[in-house]
Amino acid sequence: MLNKFSFCGLMEFKRKYYVGTRRGAYLQINNFMKFDIITIFPDILDSYINESILKRAQKSKKIKIQTHDIRKFSKNKHKTVDDTPYGGGPGMVLMVEPIYKCLKSIKKKRKSKIILLDPAGKQFNQKMAQRYANLDQLIFICGRYEGVDARVDKLINEKVSIGPYVLSGGELGAAVITEAVARLVPGVLGSAESLQYETFSGKKADVIEYPQYTRPENFKGQKVPKILLSGNHKEIEGWRKNN
Ligand code: ADE
Repeated sequence: MLNKFSFCGLMEFKRKYYVGTRRGAYLQINNFMKFDIITIFPDILDSYINESILKRAQKSKKIKIQTHDIRKFSKNKHKTVDDTPYGGGPGMVLMVEPIYKCLKSIKKKRKSKIILLDPAGKQFNQKMAQRYANLDQLIFICGRYEGVDARVDKLINEKVSIGPYVLSGGELGAAVITEAVARLVPGVLGSAESLQYETFSGKKADVIEYPQYTRPENFKGQKVPKILLSGNHKEIEGWRKNN
């Protein structure tokens, strides 16, 4: 049975998703994605990823997010994973060995990418989110702002920043990218419409650009535009295009 999604070129059949091509063929697309986050602060991330949309998406088995504590891969009894830099200088540097061992312990899927969160990396955007959403797995290494041993470069595919500012570490970046990408995995967002606009429109970054209102109709003298109360969908669509 072709279900409710077939109208927008996206079809769900036996819990798998297919997108229609212009030649009439259907290509199977990702309907499950794994996210692995390597960090020294797994608790910070666990509390975020186990709420709201990411929690729902994991419950419905569209995605799985796993945090990995680098300290578990430390070889000393104090579980330290950083040390002073060779050549001197301020701060501590994350060691390569526990990161290497942690990476090795993660089961890799066929199409996966390893990303180091780094303020000097390529700035993340919606296009990158769409590219990542075609993978089976994203593995994040959360750097600390003071530094990561340069030999980690050989273990990764990309360095990514979430913006032109410096944070204390990559944890927020990993959460941001995970959420932006997870939203693009079919079935994560509730409605077919969200999928149509956000995943397969092929247009520029898909955000709602017109003003939105909800109850009450009148808030301290500021009224909801009458046209939105009219029930005339054609006129509402026209208004939204112009506002
Ligand atoms: N770590 C510190 N600052 C960062 C940033 N802006 N993006 C990603 N990782 C970071």
